[in-house]
Amino acid sequence: MHYRQFFFAAVGAAHVSALCPHFAAQRTAAEHILQQKQHIRVARATDDYSGMDSYGDVMTDIAALLTDSQSSWPADFGNYGPFMIRLAWHCSGSYRTSDGRGGCAGARIRFGPEADWEDNANLDQARKPLESVKEKYGDDLSWGDLIVLTGNVAIESMGGPSLNFCGGRVDAEDGLESVPLGPSTYQEELASCEVNGQCEAPLGPTTIGLIYVNPEGPMGIPDSVGSAADIRSSFGRMGMNDRETVALIGGGHAFGKAHGACKSPPCGSGAMEGKGPNTFTSGFEGAWTNNPTKWDNAYFNNLVTYNWTKVDGPGGHVQWEAEELPGLMMLTSDIALINDEYYLPLVMEFATDQDALDKAFSDAWYKLTSRDMGPAARCKGDKVLYPPALFQNPLPKSQSDNVDFEEVNKMIKEIMYTESNALRPDRNAKGEPYYGAYFVTLAYQCASTFRTTDYSGGCNGASIRFQPQKFWPRNIDLDKVMDVLRPVEKQFKDLSWADLIVAAGHAALVDAGGLDLQFKGGRSDAINGDYAATSELRDYYLNPMIANEDNANVMGLTAEEFVALAARPRSASHEHTLGYVGSYTGNPSVLSNEYFQLLLNEDWVLVSDLENGYKAKSKGLYMEDYDLALLDDPDMKAAVEKFAMDEDAFMQAFTSAWEYLMNADRFA
Ligand code: HEM
Repeated sequence: MHYRQFFFAAVGAAHVSALCPHFAAQRTAAEHILQQKQHIRVARATDDYSGMDSYGDVMTDIAALLTDSQSSWPADFGNYGPFMIRLAWHCSGSYRTSDGRGGCAGARIRFGPEADWEDNANLDQARKPLESVKEKYGDDLSWGDLIVLTGNVAIESMGGPSLNFCGGRVDAEDGLESVPLGPSTYQEELASCEVNGQCEAPLGPTTIGLIYVNPEGPMGIPDSVGSAADIRSSFGRMGMNDRETVALIGGGHAFGKAHGACKSPPCGSGAMEGKGPNTFTSGFEGAWTNNPTKWDNAYFNNLVTYNWTKVDGPGGHVQWEAEELPGLMMLTSDIALINDEYYLPLVMEFATDQDALDKAFSDAWYKLTSRDMGPAARCKGDKVLYPPALFQNPLPKSQSDNVDFEEVNKMIKEIMYTESNALRPDRNAKGEPYYGAYFVTLAYQCASTFRTTDYSGGCNGASIRFQPQKFWPRNIDLDKVMDVLRPVEKQFKDLSWADLIVAAGHAALVDAGGLDLQFKGGRSDAINGDYAATSELRDYYLNPMIANEDNANVMGLTAEEFVALAARPRSASHEHTLGYVGSYTGNPSVLSNEYFQLLLNEDWVLVSDLENGYKAKSKGLYMEDYDLALLDDPDMKAAVEKFAMDEDAFMQAFTSAWEYLMNADRFA
């Protein structure tokens, strides 16, 4: 679909037309972003990040402004708290597990495209009172930290449970990293949404421009059963289970109200036009409880106590009213929670057990707001949860100080040239058994799960030993490579698999290319693979050029670095096992720039639709579509041409890219 068509479909379909007057502004912002597509790059994990040792003073300042209502945007019930909670939730709730994008780190909610999402209507007004705090603390306090912390202070100050805070978010300079979240042509290329309102992974929400689901029901139809399915699907893509989902929705809607004072905004007239009681945000109108500035479980009580019926709200949307107690409101997405066999028992539990709600909500809130921050070692401040939560992928302490890595290296080298019963080796130029290319493949597959978007994945933890990674198609037989290495693991009792895998790749590369690579031990092993990178990104993308661009972005590699790593030695035996008809080189034991010369100079023909493989006409060598696609992206093609001419430049780029990737997941 053409971008312009898509844009209107995306914003116009299904949902509330709250932002119709803003179409023009949205379009300009999105088009501006498109022009900059080339510059979309996720900041590297190793970039400096900010944070404070203590957030007490900031919290005091925030608490004071919450109840200081300003005539420019009067606070409902004299308290900006609920509005601020919505800001923190929408800032964080863009996070998706598929590729780790979104989340409040970066605070890109301040810029297009996120700022223009219809779900984020009026949230610029919530940021205004925070400007003075931001100014006071300057660079020590990022907008990302300020927004999340304000959500915490709001909840606590209205009587909510005490909350943890993982500080240290770094602000983005613009909204470019959110362009893949849409609406944009780049998002269309990366992951299109066939029917807006029914978007699927890797996208997070059902509807682009909404945080999760359409409040009125699927595609705007007030069907609470269908809404429950939408909620489970989209909250699942955020990494939330049923308990977390119910606690978050009901905990959030313990506070505040929806705004939809009239059918055609701006509502009201005079000085109060469009604000205070005349505010139009979502187009729904009313509060969920009688005490919207007090934390309690009334939301859950109300859901199970009253009979809820559909009514047309003053803002022109279907909402639900209690027959016994007019004045209170529920959204179709709230009613969904009592029309689902798994959500209902949780609603009942929270309606009768305040402590259970307190605990479930505070845990889920921490996950919601911290998930994109990665391992706990990245959290700053005096309110960091300890011990870390499971979603932070805590690893046991490394014992590597007791390991003599020179000896490990010696043993790996020996094993590299010794035939093992575990796996058929490659042959080097002399015809000797050779496992080096397998070692490189294992290390690369282990480490390339790293995502700089949410600092997850990587080889630290060696999650490649467990499902799901163990069963990824490209990882077939890599358990056997580990069997080849097992004698080393047995010999050194404090050596982790993670260090061994990286050390083996390292030894092979030093051997194959004479590289001056630095090895740093200190990794440890996870006890299962549950919390590592959750998906093989490539599966999402149909176009190999887009897959290459996006994988590079998510890993935090430049185009040059990504291209350099593509020339890593590959095991011919492994390629055969994967079903390919051959390898790009006859000699897997040498690291050189031959790959780039072949890529440019051979005449490649498609040999199998199934495997998307290409064969060189003259030599019978084999490349994948991902290899050939390097020539489709201008930056990547330039790197291929450069490396084909200049082997030193290739070796340098390979060395720095490899060292980066092998260590990108280490924060302690
Ligand atoms: C307000 C929908 C989940 C916190 C609203 C509004 C809608 C909505 C339509 C009214 C906005 C306005 O007109 O001002 C949804 C849907 C959800 C969801 C469809 C998921 C299925 C959550 C979660 C939280 C939350 C998880 C926080 C943990 C709030 C708060 C308000 C609000 C505090 C009141 C804001 C104010 O008073 O200005 N929500 N919400 N919501 N939401 Fe949600």
